[in-house]
Amino acid sequence: MTSYKAFHARSIEDRNGFWGEMAGLIDWNKPFSKVLDYSRPPFAKWYVGGETNLCHNAIDRHLGVRGEQKALVYISTETGEETSYTYRQLHAEVNRCAAILAGLGVGKGDRVIIYMPMIAEAAFAMLACARIGAIHSVVFGGFAAASLATRIDDARPKVMISADAGMRAGRAIHYKQLLDEAIDLAKFPPQKVVLVNRGIDKGMQVVAGRDLDYARLRSQNMNPQIPVTWLESNEPSYILYTSGTTGKPKGVQRDVGGHAVALAASMKYLYCGEPGGTMFTTSDIGWVVGHSYIVYAPLLVGMTTIMYEGVPIRPDPGIWWKIVSENEVSVMFSSPTAIRVLKKQDQSYLRKYDVSSLKHLFLAGEPLDETTHGWIADALGVPVIDHYWQTETGWPILTAVPGVEKTPIKLGSPSFPAFGYDLRLLRETDASEAEAEEKGVVAIVPPLPPGCMSTVWGDDQRFIDTYFTTFSARMVYTTFDWGIRDKDGYYFILGRTDDVINVAGHRLGTREIEEAIQTHTNVAEVAVVGVADQLKGQMPLAFAVLKDVSKIATPQLRAAHEQEIMATVDAKLGAIGRPSRVHFITLLPKTRSGKLLRRSIQALAEGRDAGDLTTIEDPGALEQIRAALAGK
Ligand code: PRX
Repeated sequence: MTSYKAFHARSIEDRNGFWGEMAGLIDWNKPFSKVLDYSRPPFAKWYVGGETNLCHNAIDRHLGVRGEQKALVYISTETGEETSYTYRQLHAEVNRCAAILAGLGVGKGDRVIIYMPMIAEAAFAMLACARIGAIHSVVFGGFAAASLATRIDDARPKVMISADAGMRAGRAIHYKQLLDEAIDLAKFPPQKVVLVNRGIDKGMQVVAGRDLDYARLRSQNMNPQIPVTWLESNEPSYILYTSGTTGKPKGVQRDVGGHAVALAASMKYLYCGEPGGTMFTTSDIGWVVGHSYIVYAPLLVGMTTIMYEGVPIRPDPGIWWKIVSENEVSVMFSSPTAIRVLKKQDQSYLRKYDVSSLKHLFLAGEPLDETTHGWIADALGVPVIDHYWQTETGWPILTAVPGVEKTPIKLGSPSFPAFGYDLRLLRETDASEAEAEEKGVVAIVPPLPPGCMSTVWGDDQRFIDTYFTTFSARMVYTTFDWGIRDKDGYYFILGRTDDVINVAGHRLGTREIEEAIQTHTNVAEVAVVGVADQLKGQMPLAFAVLKDVSKIATPQLRAAHEQEIMATVDAKLGAIGRPSRVHFITLLPKTRSGKLLRRSIQALAEGRDAGDLTTIEDPGALEQIRAALAGK
């Protein structure tokens, strides 16, 4: 077996050879003439001249061998629906959807915005766009009308596909209402809107002449054979909007060939996804994790993918393990937040199901604390792989690569740079390389590997300015994350460079303080933000969710507990990291994808407005912060 180190080294030192071989993981209609064209840095063109298609590779290619194998299993614990589609059935549904779109005049290069809940039709729509060469943009359902309108105006879709409503924890989310509001706000609205009517929003309003019913159009297109549109490898496949430091979201644009190859390679070497196996990714298709690893990647390699609408604790906290057991899931991908939620539940649910089919659990999207990492690894008895990446990269940057070598896992570490990434930790001051155990900015020396964003949609200059100008000394891609490498070469992510706090001249990651507090046995979750302080510049402030609230039942107990947690920070990190206060709350403010709304907490703590809250999971959490700060 090749060692991880040799594998990675070759991916950097012999890019043409390495990625040329990887290209064999997918089908090409026309071979490429050049593996990489890097004549216009930092824009990398992969597989120049090659022609391929994502939908062909995800579906058609498998029809011969696995036409009757399940391709997509749809489970909604919100509506009770459970449906599965074989590759052949998926092929038929995607052709129907492609025919609907083509009938509305959508062709190569046209944009289609998919604003849909977690229903199978959302996957059909993505694959149908890919089939006909239309550029799709999935917008997460939680975005409010104004956010959706901004995306509509940037992408200028010809058609939008939506549904009456989605469901989350028993509550309806009214997609169609939000869509109508967004279209009213937009300057460049779509000509047509195709709607899947799930019958959840009984009072759904239909706009005559614009809104069309998916079921009716489908029934008129039952047996179409829509040929795939072959695309040059570097043509855009999709746009996924992501927020940065400015208010205007960036349209992360991805290509076709590099994207397909990178996902296929990640499935083989990193996720160890075998053809015929089953993958369960618990994300949403509106986020990059769901986009890449619910829809495209598992299908590219001939796996069965599970698409789930629901939360991890309904109808009970055993639901995910039940799904794993019943579908013999071999690869599971989830988020640290979800695991922390499960950690707080009755553990008998985990033992109730046979999860022996599982080979690995992958977690990403936010820092995974050591305690949670250790807990879930022990509970499942399989390797739990923390891996680190971004919407921009589309697939992992730092990870263990068990398909190449089963390197030992260190709790709290996303292991090593994935193949293809020439990753460096750079000193912020002069872009020189940090030593082991020294904090640096996680940067990637370009060209970025296949599968990473090719540019910002419609704005090449913004791509350069945002990601490649952090250091004047050299042109490198910055992740905006701090990282550190230990003496064994394992990396640790310490939080965003833009969330760094400075206490009396000492730079600290709020993440480091959280890690320290998290080691206190009664702390379930904690958020630390830097708050302006007249004397020291900034001071850390903590908001903790406790496992056992009886420990703070009286004011005296509460004060003692706060001191105890501060002492834990002194002991684990040093008094420099000690928060000025530890407030106790029962819920942290997070986005629906589980990201902590640090900036909002920080803003409230500094007496400012909480900012954009369109993606907040539960506004009540911010009320708790306000009350805690007011000493109530
Ligand atoms: O700060 C890092 C954090 O999430 C950011 C990227 O978020 P997003 O674009 O939503 O993509 C998520 C894809 C998994 C990163 O800049 N992040 C992501 N994974 C980890 C992480 N932080 C620590 N550990 C991780 N494993």
